[in-house]
Amino acid sequence: MQVPIFAAEGRLGAALARNLILFRSELFFPFRISLVHAFSLHWNLTDSDPTQLFKQWFDAAVSAGLPEPNAMTLGTATRQGKPSARIVLLKAFDERGFVFYTNYDSRKGRELARNPYAALVFFWQPLARQIRVTGRVTKVSADESDKYFHSRPVGSRFSASISKQSSVIASRDVLLGKLKKLEEKYPKGDPPRPINWGGFRVYPTEIEFWQGGEFRLHDRMRYRRRRDGSWSVDRLSP
Ligand SMILES: Cc1cc2nc3c(=O)[nH]c(=O)nc-3n(C[C@H](O)[C@H](O)[C@H](O)COP(=O)(O)O)c2cc1C
Repeated sequence: MQVPIFAAEGRLGAALARNLILFRSELFFPFRISLVHAFSLHWNLTDSDPTQLFKQWFDAAVSAGLPEPNAMTLGTATRQGKPSARIVLLKAFDERGFVFYTNYDSRKGRELARNPYAALVFFWQPLARQIRVTGRVTKVSADESDKYFHSRPVGSRFSASISKQSSVIASRDVLLGKLKKLEEKYPKGDPPRPINWGGFRVYPTEIEFWQGGEFRLHDRMRYRRRRDGSWSVDRLSP
């Protein structure tokens, strides 16, 4: 089901959703107010699927030509609740969740192994939009990780293979030495996927859409997954 982004949904609203980004707000308004705001105040409150809305916002960020629109902050925590965060890239998204790839033995990988919950945050500044996601994390299948690994540029495959991500190394030369050895071992550039490298999928239980508003009167819509899999939606105070 299509989720209306704006009350003024219809031709104008849709055109704005797609194209407004081109009108950099700073060019027109002293307070960095985007024209988007004018159309965001009467968000349609319907119990529907936020994954559709995520797709619409994500597509808008891509169409706007934003640099690395798939970059997202990933928050994890130890079993004791000590948090850490870093940027990773969203590589796939559907009703099953948000997928990123990494080293399973990295700090985030170790934290997720012991405490399989994560938070994701996207921020698309020219659109004045933020999306927050929280959910349970699982590894993607080995087949899915293989497929993605082999779609990557050769250099990235070598780098993933030699890097013990998040461990201490004596110097960059250590890495370059390992790289040289691996390139000699696989002169055709076809190293296998390391078993400790692959994807994680965040299955969302909560997704919040934030649309920046004039004078900080922002719109916030929070979707929460019910037990039966459907979603409830609430408007939150900015
Ligand atoms: C724009 C950007 C994209 C990144 N994408 C990834 C990624 O997709 N996977 C990944 O493991 N690290 C990625 N990194 C590096 C991470 O931010 C981080 O340094 C690394 O994963 C180690 O994190 P950890 O020690 O907390 O596990 C990216 C960094 C930046 C700045």
